[in-house]
Amino acid sequence: MTVGSFDLSGKVAMVTGAGANGGVGHAIALGYARAGARLVICDIDADGLERTRSELGAAAVLARRCDISQGDQVEALFAACNADGCAIDILVNVPFVFPRRSPPHEVALGDWERMFAVNVTGYFLCARAAIPGMLAKGAGAIINIGSNAGASALGRGAFAYSCTKAAVHQMTRELAIEYGRRGIRANAILPAQIRTPGFESHLSNPAFRDGVLPRILEGLPMNRLLEPDDMVGPAIFLASDAAAAVNGVLLPVDGGNLAMNAGGSPGGAAA
Ligand SMILES: NC(=O)c1ccc[n+]([C@@H]2O[C@H](COP(=O)([O-])OP(=O)(O)OC[C@H]3O[C@@H](n4cnc5c(N)ncnc54)[C@H](O)[C@@H]3O)[C@@H](O)[C@H]2O)c1
Repeated sequence: MTVGSFDLSGKVAMVTGAGANGGVGHAIALGYARAGARLVICDIDADGLERTRSELGAAAVLARRCDISQGDQVEALFAACNADGCAIDILVNVPFVFPRRSPPHEVALGDWERMFAVNVTGYFLCARAAIPGMLAKGAGAIINIGSNAGASALGRGAFAYSCTKAAVHQMTRELAIEYGRRGIRANAILPAQIRTPGFESHLSNPAFRDGVLPRILEGLPMNRLLEPDDMVGPAIFLASDAAAAVNGVLLPVDGGNLAMNAGGSPGGAAA
């Protein structure tokens, strides 16, 4: 193993949901480009996607609007890759939807179905489309963005979202076991709360800012929200040859959130 093992030169990475400036997919796409990869990016937000494409410059080999919950659009995305001669080495599944917070007994069926369609079925459709090319190469890395919400319970109306993230974690394990012998690794990154534009939009709500935010920070032993850039190093590592034996891992990138007992006291000496 050398430091060069972290280099992604010569690899083609598809990052789905890369169109939100200040979002995780955008940060990972730019980080992969700095690590030497060429990028295929997609999003439902055509304008955002175009902005990311222009920031990537020559590293962007394909940018295409795609709703990952729609099988025909995912197939068209991969057909466009094939037509361009891009065989995907790395797939990063990022998008999510979370239409509204609802206690379990009030979740609208339509919300539940939409969350599963994007947050779970979309990840499955992209993985299913990427795997044949990876099998042909005998190598590939799939990285799913999970959440601390899928590994422990958040409450506060996150029920359906949390269930989708738990499904993503199990999808990751199953992919790892199914394809590990054939050169494809699957891992997940489990962030805690990240200071994305979506998260920041909640801060204008006093109930969130003064009630929920302090509780979130109490649960983050590093006493700060995560930043999208905090996801980049772990995403490069998991995609790279440095992680050649890392398969089926659910990697918390959460400042210690999942490590801490709910009754724990970060740095507190008081009894
Ligand atoms: N932000 C947080 O606090 C936080 C915490 C834990 C986990 N996560 C996870 O991190 C990931 C990224 O979150 P983010 O906050 O950066 O999101 P974001 O909203 O900033 O970016 C998500 C992108 O996905 C795109 N998208 C939405 N639906 C799509 C679809 N059907 N097809 C294609 N693209 C679609 C959006 O247009 C957007 O560009 C998500 O999986 C989320 O669950 C976020």
